Amino acid sequence: MIKGTTKIIGIFGWPVEHTKSPAMHNAAFAHLGLDYCYVPFSVRPEDLRSAVDGIRALGLSGVNITVPHKEAVVPFLDEVAEDASCIGAVNTVKNENGILKGHNTDGIGFMRSLEERGVQAKGKKTLILGAGGAARAVGHAICKEAAECYIYNRTTEKGRALYERLLKTGGNVHMADNAMIGDKGFLSGTDIIINTTSLGLAEADAPLVDASLLNAGHVVCDLVYKKTRFLAEAEKAGCVTIDGLGMLLWQGVAAFEIWTGIKPPIEVMRKTL
Ligand code: ATR
Repeated sequence: MIKGTTKIIGIFGWPVEHTKSPAMHNAAFAHLGLDYCYVPFSVRPEDLRSAVDGIRALGLSGVNITVPHKEAVVPFLDEVAEDASCIGAVNTVKNENGILKGHNTDGIGFMRSLEERGVQAKGKKTLILGAGGAARAVGHAICKEAAECYIYNRTTEKGRALYERLLKTGGNVHMADNAMIGDKGFLSGTDIIINTTSLGLAEADAPLVDASLLNAGHVVCDLVYKKTRFLAEAEKAGCVTIDGLGMLLWQGVAAFEIWTGIKPPIEVMRKTL
């Protein structure tokens, strides 16, 4: 029940209609009997600054920031936590008495989705497909752990920009090209393959890495929320497969803790997703 005392958390996205975060967080608030409510806000790119000012003006407790605002929001905030600053993107904002602090929980969310499946990235050789916002968050988290990290992107310049960013923060990082991701020898020396591109959203999308090059030693992750063709084919090849729902859950768990200081009911959130 919404009362005069209810604290409001929001999500800013454009479009925002597809988001699963309100259901996940409201289920957690209800389960714990917390006087919070989580609502979606459809914020056009040109209105982002006004919307951020609105967090202060309306006294929202915090917001999630989603596509396409994660990078654009940074200059409008008062403070940015170290991880978010390295990544150059924010997915969680906390309003601390009118001071807006940005965080990024996507990287930790991804790492926890690996850990809960018993996958340790430490010392592993990893291939990241894509170099967009999601790849930046995953790349930073992975590079802290992995022995070696390879970046492949369709557009080489954008791939190089991520490679240079990760190199600056001390990652043991390399570029991968079309020949490498089609080479069985290179791939068999790789432990974890992560698709961060939107390829796979449509059924007809052919995966970037051919399943005939995969083996049972591979861990294959896809940040898309559903079982993509890439994951289905990897599963057939005997790989451990991990979809994007775990990352969505765990980034939400970390955001919930930032806003409330309380550990959320993880299984309630998972079941709601
Ligand atoms: P997000 O924030 O979800 O990561 P993004 O920043 O728009 O989204 O990045 C999308 C990524 O998916 C990019 O790496 C993009 O490759 P380009 O830099 O070459 O555009 C990749 N991507 C999208 N569609 C693709 C396709 N059909 N084939 C290969 N890569 C694709």
